[in-house]
Amino acid sequence: MKKILIVDDDIASCRTLQLHFLTEDFAVEIANNVDEGLEAGKLLNPDVIVLDIKMPGRSGLEGLPDFKKNHPDASIIMITAFHDMDSTIEAMQLGAAEYIHKPIDINELDDAVCNALNRGAAMKSDLEIAPRDQTDKSSMVGRSRMMKEVFKTIGLVASQPITVLITGESGTGKELAARAIHNASDRSDGPFVAINCAALVETLLESDMFGHEKGSFTGAVNRQKGKFELANNGTIFLDELGDLSQTIQAKLLRVIQEKEFTPVGGSSSLKTNARVIAATNVNLERKVKMGDFREDLFYRLRVVTIEMPPLRERSEDIMPLVQVLLGRINKELKRNITRLSQSTMSSFLSYDWPGNIRELNNVLMKAVALCPGDIITPDLIPEEISQMQSNKEQNNAYEPAVDNDQQFLSLDDMEKQHVIRVLNETGGHKGRACEILGVSRPRLRRMMQNYNIQDPQ
Ligand SMILES: Nc1ncnc2c1ncn2[C@@H]1O[C@H](COP(=O)(O)OP(=O)(O)OP(=O)(O)O)[C@@H](O)[C@H]1O
Ligand SMILES: [Mg+2]
Repeated sequence: MKKILIVDDDIASCRTLQLHFLTEDFAVEIANNVDEGLEAGKLLNPDVIVLDIKMPGRSGLEGLPDFKKNHPDASIIMITAFHDMDSTIEAMQLGAAEYIHKPIDINELDDAVCNALNRGAAMKSDLEIAPRDQTDKSSMVGRSRMMKEVFKTIGLVASQPITVLITGESGTGKELAARAIHNASDRSDGPFVAINCAALVETLLESDMFGHEKGSFTGAVNRQKGKFELANNGTIFLDELGDLSQTIQAKLLRVIQEKEFTPVGGSSSLKTNARVIAATNVNLERKVKMGDFREDLFYRLRVVTIEMPPLRERSEDIMPLVQVLLGRINKELKRNITRLSQSTMSSFLSYDWPGNIRELNNVLMKAVALCPGDIITPDLIPEEISQMQSNKEQNNAYEPAVDNDQQFLSLDDMEKQHVIRVLNETGGHKGRACEILGVSRPRLRRMMQNYNIQDPQ
């Protein structure tokens, strides 16, 4: 039986909530101030604490750390005044799991309790993921066969003065691979200079790459070194070079072939020995066929090609990546998140990560920032990811018996039959049914109404 402690100075409101939760088979205790609440909590050992902020004596916010200390596994739901955003923020910072506004909408409170209890359940089957303290941002993580191939190629080409083309979807680690090549090369003491070719208009890009002479165009008040010059004795990384203009393509071919270039507005050539690494997430071969990209340049660039595999094809890398990324994020945000719930991890493994490692990093960053405790639960990650898991679970959980005349049920029929079955199994106990179905009470009520399901006798 779940235990709930309600701490609110409004006696009428306490009674109403007590009655409500008693009918839902909770053990309920009420208290009218923080100190009484702490006493009552010692006896009850609650799973959920509903804590009003505004109370005479110590406020709910002041009491919150004590409740957390006495009941580290309980979820705390704060009751806040509607307009008081500051106290809401403070409550979340102090470790509240949820908050609801006054006046209390009982459906909203039901949902909050349901979420809080799910969070508690998730905590019991969580995963220790031991974030790895690896601050070196240029180190690449990967234990999959595909990443091992990538590491092997990087090792083989790094110290040879050849041009490398890195291809792969957005966020797969192309820039990181380019840095790894540079760091493993005999030029690692020299500069690593990156240019995002897609970020600048043609004229600016040309002067950024090759520099310009004083007075070569309006605004060129001084001579400016280009990145090919700056990257001398080092590596130049040409990122997203799929859409280069014909002029720049020609200049690029020359600098790769002859190691020579002419700054914008200049009359004499300069020398550079910069090692070129290029990256693109478009299919250059197709561009060549369409006549948009010079074939000779293409062959010069892809002396060696490294293809960064998408994350969805190497799910065995997800766990080690989570460890390393989480370690970095903890450091950056001064947090110490050490656990992921099982279902969060399973949805990570089922999701297809179109934004690859960059997306994984962003999802973790946001989850850590919003996390009230030390465990990442499904409610902290975007729905399209957490749904992956619930879809799977539902598929696995229950296969309806279909008779042979009627091979397939519609989704609605399936849902209806499933709800009926669970209600029968639980003898009409709504709390248990909600738990099994993973829905809130209001949602169960709505489903029963929509499907015209009666309470089982
Ligand atoms: N194997 C890896 N190990 C650890 N971190 C990684 C790995 N691959 C990528 N990352 C991290 O993911 C993020 C995206 O990587 P990066 O910028 O290299 O990708 P990209 O392919 O250049 O992406 P885009 O096409 O969007 O420019 C970076 O924060 C990077 O540190
Ligand atoms: Mg990039």
